[in-house]
Amino acid sequence: MVHISEREVELPDAVIGKLLKVAAEDKSVISLGPGEPDFPAPPPIVEYTKQFADKCNHYSPPGGRKELKEALIKKLKKENGITAHPDNIIVTCGSQEALLLATACTCDVSEQIIIPNPSYLGYLPLFQLFNAFPVPLQLHEKDDWNINPDDLKHLIDPKKTKAIMINTPANPTGNVLSRKLLEEIADLAVQHNLYVFSDEAYEKLVYNKPHVSMASLNGMEKYTVTFQTFSKSYAMCGYRVGYAVGPKLLIEAMTKTHIYTTTAAPTISQMVAAKALSMDPKYTEAMRKEYDQRRKYIVKRLNQMGLPTTTPNGAFYTFSNIKDVMDDSFRFAFQLLKEAKVAVVPGKEFGTYGEGYIRCSYATALPKIETAMDRMEKFVKKYKK
Ligand SMILES: Cc1ncc(COP(=O)(O)O)c(C=O)c1O
Repeated sequence: MVHISEREVELPDAVIGKLLKVAAEDKSVISLGPGEPDFPAPPPIVEYTKQFADKCNHYSPPGGRKELKEALIKKLKKENGITAHPDNIIVTCGSQEALLLATACTCDVSEQIIIPNPSYLGYLPLFQLFNAFPVPLQLHEKDDWNINPDDLKHLIDPKKTKAIMINTPANPTGNVLSRKLLEEIADLAVQHNLYVFSDEAYEKLVYNKPHVSMASLNGMEKYTVTFQTFSKSYAMCGYRVGYAVGPKLLIEAMTKTHIYTTTAAPTISQMVAAKALSMDPKYTEAMRKEYDQRRKYIVKRLNQMGLPTTTPNGAFYTFSNIKDVMDDSFRFAFQLLKEAKVAVVPGKEFGTYGEGYIRCSYATALPKIETAMDRMEKFVKKYKK
């Protein structure tokens, strides 16, 4: 007997999965799809993992191990300007789980979360899973994919809106929100008594603009849930360790729910993560510099071949306009894969307003990016309207 819940059936199937599967099976394909660093974990991380291998067979306390929370408190103060106590932090299985817990603990059925569109493809299904109502906030290429505070203001329903989702640096656009814009968003959140869910998964991957944490703004610690992770900054995606920082009562509620989802983040990952915070920053900096080189190259090539691409200030993605070639981003991605053996992600995967765009990841070695750009250039020439 097979019975699948309606909730599950209604979850969208990510096309990215199908594309990346084809890309992985066909060795001639160059994938610009990956959403994770192509670097191995830095050598000290590998060493710590070996050191702790025989010391981690017990469950961690649900909220996270003491030494990791202590290290996080220092990191948050120093790097993000956020003051936190142990009961403001929950350590989770990646920041994805923290996003799930925050949604579960803040939104009742049909309550609303405003989410940028296009944005990270993990948000929308997550909110739908809890029957919360995601309200799309359209972002525009002409604004460099920045949030427009006037548009945001008009979407707030005083009775139903519970939270505003922001993502800086952003996936898929590479947008980094300025302090001024964050202040304008903060004013709206305070005025309407809303949470700000601030996803900062790519906080250390910024190029020309500084990363500013929403919770570091005056008074915003009370309103903000900050989501950070070891996945991108330390190339530790497989360790599955992230965390949320927020108001004590909400973190307590999230911790209660966490006991019924995963119980606790893996002990070994937390021990390694605590050590990673004391590691020489040169490892992350070396990755950031390499991404920066690739970023400059890929943005230039995409623009030159006639796919207008705003310069991303953070993360490791470009978001290119393909409307002069094809209107349908799925068709573009599948045709490109079939004919040119290059995998990219259709913009529509990131929301309806992502249609007409494609995402390329530069978490791929430069020589591969060079070949992929040559192949794409021929493809674009052939199909240009
Ligand atoms: C914007 C954003 N937030 C959160 C995540 C989740 O990352 P993790 O669960 O590995 O911390 C991702 C992963 O790609 C992401 O791109």
